[in-house]
Amino acid sequence: MAVPRHVAIIMDGNGRWAKKRALPREAGHTMGAKNVEKIAEAADNLGIEYITYYAFSTENWERPQKEVDKLMALLSDYMKTSIKKTTKNNIRVRVIGDISRLSQKLQKDILNLEDASSKNTGLKMQLAINYGGRDEIVRAVNKAYDEMDSEGKPFRITQETISSYLDTKDIPDPDLLIRTGGEMRLSNFLMWQLSYAELYFTDRMWPEFSKEDLKEAIDVYEKRDRRYGGLKE
Ligand code: FPP
Repeated sequence: MAVPRHVAIIMDGNGRWAKKRALPREAGHTMGAKNVEKIAEAADNLGIEYITYYAFSTENWERPQKEVDKLMALLSDYMKTSIKKTTKNNIRVRVIGDISRLSQKLQKDILNLEDASSKNTGLKMQLAINYGGRDEIVRAVNKAYDEMDSEGKPFRITQETISSYLDTKDIPDPDLLIRTGGEMRLSNFLMWQLSYAELYFTDRMWPEFSKEDLKEAIDVYEKRDRRYGGLKE
């Protein structure tokens, strides 16, 4: 099988990586943030077209304020420092999720980076921030409902309707989901889009997940037999 077109990543294990080194959890997030660009570049070199990272979930607000603040600060930094790098690497960045709950400043930084990278033609990187799969589906259905209602059309929702109102509307569904940190669950990530994705779980913690580990995940994916519920010819 060919390399996956779209890889989605749940970057788990930052806290445990730090704890093992007697560092505060926040240090794990700092190292994790550094790995985002490195793995994106490796993905690009492997011929992957889309990469989507789970950076902050709709449930992550429940963490201690100090940790939430650190994650927000890392995201803010990322938006600013990445403008140069994404230009150099020809990466287009988009944010998915409900950004209206983020600070005005972070929202502005996000729009700036999206705008500055919008014409780049290389790897397409999505960052999921204040993102939840169920929240996204509910927002999509409401958007569809509002529009159809104002046009006075009969109200019928199809799978295509929902897909076309998701934050990922013009992005193909992920072919492969990678989750680091040893847990085997989806944690409300891309619930609609992952329906037919191949799932790959590794015990590696996100800050130590390397280019070689990515290659290993792709090698495993290439040996899988995707049937989408049908039978092999
Ligand atoms: C899960 O590890 C990770 C997160 C909740 C945050 C992921 C965020 C980053 C890697 C940094 C910001 C991202 C960008 C794009 C700059 P965990 O804290 O749940 O780890 P644990 O399970 O070991 O406690």
